[in-house]
Amino acid sequence: MDILSPAIADYLDDLVPPRPAELQRMEAYAKSHGFPIIEPACGQLCYQIARTMGATRIYELGSGYGYSTAWFAEAVKQNGGGIVHHTVWDQDLSDMAKAHMQALGYEGLVEYTMGEAVDAFRQVDGPFDIVFMDIDKEGYPTALAEIKRKLRPGGVLLIDNMLWSGRILDHSDDSGATQAIRECTGMLVSDQDWAVSVIPIRDGLLVATKLTLEKSPPGGGDFLCVQAAPLPPEQARAEQGKETQSNKDILPETQGE
Ligand SMILES: C[S@@+](CC[C@H](N)C(=O)[O-])C[C@H]1O[C@@H](n2cnc3c(N)ncnc32)[C@H](O)[C@@H]1O
Repeated sequence: MDILSPAIADYLDDLVPPRPAELQRMEAYAKSHGFPIIEPACGQLCYQIARTMGATRIYELGSGYGYSTAWFAEAVKQNGGGIVHHTVWDQDLSDMAKAHMQALGYEGLVEYTMGEAVDAFRQVDGPFDIVFMDIDKEGYPTALAEIKRKLRPGGVLLIDNMLWSGRILDHSDDSGATQAIRECTGMLVSDQDWAVSVIPIRDGLLVATKLTLEKSPPGGGDFLCVQAAPLPPEQARAEQGKETQSNKDILPETQGE
């Protein structure tokens, strides 16, 4: 089952601003080789979330040849620099990603790990602003505890394929992958430390914000809220005065429409 009709999916992708030629080549490769990437509209949403949060530390679990990485790296670059962790267990895909990131001008912004993504994630120090998970679906539920530990308060967890082509609604589908997606969704929505939405874009992007317990004034109850992460005052003032640049001005080597 398509989550979106092909016409709507194409419409949403067509709304995304023109992209660098290298990113377009990565999209063409995915089409010609049937490789699952998050595609333009979902990439743009990931970029937008990262940019809005001012994210500078992002960890990707399951990065393929780096298409999703490129969207996060562009946001981190525009946020003033930082690091995006690329993890995949195929050497060829890791090498392809390095070449693509270099061509896109993201050297120094991406760290590459070849190996099992959750094991690699356990080895790094947090905290992270964003964790993006796109590994084999059976691995989703067990990764959650470590992700929760390493996300900063107010940090965001993004998970791809959470509608799984509608298979989550098919009660006769008890495959390991489908059950794992159901379990992962259930764990997040029943945990009051998360605010969760599943956005029906592409194959369903789950967006979960890690909440913090705020103390109310005397007499009021404690409440869970999204921890605001304001920019330091000087940086906020500088940003306020800046003229808005269009993506066209920012992105290198854009090609046509
Ligand atoms: C769906 S693709 C990722 C695509 C990428 N996020 C994008 O949109 O461009 C998932 C990739 O992660 C790899 N992978 C799956 N499970 C993994 C795991 N547990 N550890 C490392 N890599 C994994 C797969 O081999 C594949 O290359």
